[in-house]
Amino acid sequence: MFTGLLHAHSGLRYLVLLFGVLALGYALWGMVSRRPYDKGMRILGTSFAGFLHLQVLVGFFLLVSGVFQPMLIGHIFLMLIAAVVAQIPVSVMRRRPQEERSYAPHAVATLLALGLIWFGVLSIGRGLLESNIL
Ligand code: HEM
Repeated sequence: MFTGLLHAHSGLRYLVLLFGVLALGYALWGMVSRRPYDKGMRILGTSFAGFLHLQVLVGFFLLVSGVFQPMLIGHIFLMLIAAVVAQIPVSVMRRRPQEERSYAPHAVATLLALGLIWFGVLSIGRGLLESNIL
């Protein structure tokens, strides 16, 4: 059970990173080309935040399966902040009228969330793309 969860948690990280990079690229492209805000941004932003939340959930299942060590506190703390930061532009843009929606908040929040994830993985002694178990 624990090994399965750890493999899921380790593998899901690549999906989180993929959608983070896609959302960041799409937001930057939207800013540079000054295109009107579109559905693609909403889908990529929601996917990034969604996979990140799923990863948080799997992380908590790992914790309750009994692997807590003090070394994980930084990991957990940084990842929870990353999940909140990734969700903010999605929730804010959803509430704004179409003509007031913009790409910049997605670019800033996604970059910040990716940075927090990077430090969160480094804090447990792994590289961003490196695994001890796969
Ligand atoms: C609050 C949410 C999270 C909790 C509670 C959590 C918990 C854990 C735990 C218990 C481990 C196992 C440590 C060990 O014994 O080796 C772990 C490893 C790991 N976590 Fe998290 N985690 C969370 C969020 C995330 C997120 C958002 C990411 C990346 C997107 C992530 C990436 C990793 C990676 C890469 C490992 C190492 C797996 C390996 O060795 O291949 N975690 N996490």
